[in-house]
Amino acid sequence: MRDVFDAIARPYDRMNLIITAGVFRRWERFFVQSLGVRPGMRVLDVACGTGELSFAVARLMGDRGEVVGLDLSQGMLAVAREKADRRPEGRRVQFVEGNALHMPFADGEFDLVMSGFALRNFADLAQAIREMVRVTRPGGRVTTLELSQPVNPFLALPYEFYFFHVVPWVGRVAERTWGKPGGMTPYAWLATSLKGFPGAPALAEVMRVEGLANVGFRYLTGGIVAVHWGEKPLAGDKA
Ligand SMILES: C[S@@+](CC[C@H](N)C(=O)[O-])C[C@H]1O[C@@H](n2cnc3c(N)ncnc32)[C@H](O)[C@@H]1O
Repeated sequence: MRDVFDAIARPYDRMNLIITAGVFRRWERFFVQSLGVRPGMRVLDVACGTGELSFAVARLMGDRGEVVGLDLSQGMLAVAREKADRRPEGRRVQFVEGNALHMPFADGEFDLVMSGFALRNFADLAQAIREMVRVTRPGGRVTTLELSQPVNPFLALPYEFYFFHVVPWVGRVAERTWGKPGGMTPYAWLATSLKGFPGAPALAEVMRVEGLANVGFRYLTGGIVAVHWGEKPLAGDKA
């Protein structure tokens, strides 16, 4: 997984905009606004990649609060750190190398734990959610943004054609334009990672089983992506 993302780290942001025709930014904006970020919070961005969500949250916090971005890929983290040096909100974001399945954080360290477009990549989804719940403080929230399965039947075929054929092809073209040889083939990985990934109701059930309460989700763009959320119960409350 680390090699896959090291290979696409440099053109990652540009490729997201190309393969989603810019809609990606709208999904990110909706997600960040839905988080309920307040000044003074300590927020964890799991599998932060090049850090766009981390920076967006840091901007919402104003001068108080801290965001920690965790990722496995040194290539993605290098891009994130370069951006942090250039952006004013960068001083409130700290990037840490580590595995989402065994996070280097204590129990209950964060008010809010979020993750964008990463769940599909985890070898053990339940273990990743369990870790997110562990590092969230009682009463805090876990929120995720991820590709899902279109609920609109008219979108299902175009969705499949797009992610299973067009995106890998765009990846190959981009490899010839910007990449090192073999560097972009990870865009074929996107289709593979979608195949075994549960739909939104099943993902919500994993969150409940792993201990979150008041779990809910909302589809965006006809179900192409979904935002999920849940609360870690206060001590004594049941999930
Ligand atoms: C599609 S990118 C998403 C990046 C970012 N969250 C965003 O919204 O653009 C997925 C990220 O997950 C990271 N990743 C995959 N498996 C991981 C793991 N087990 N632990 C930590 N990061 C992981 C990859 O290195 C990559 O940066």
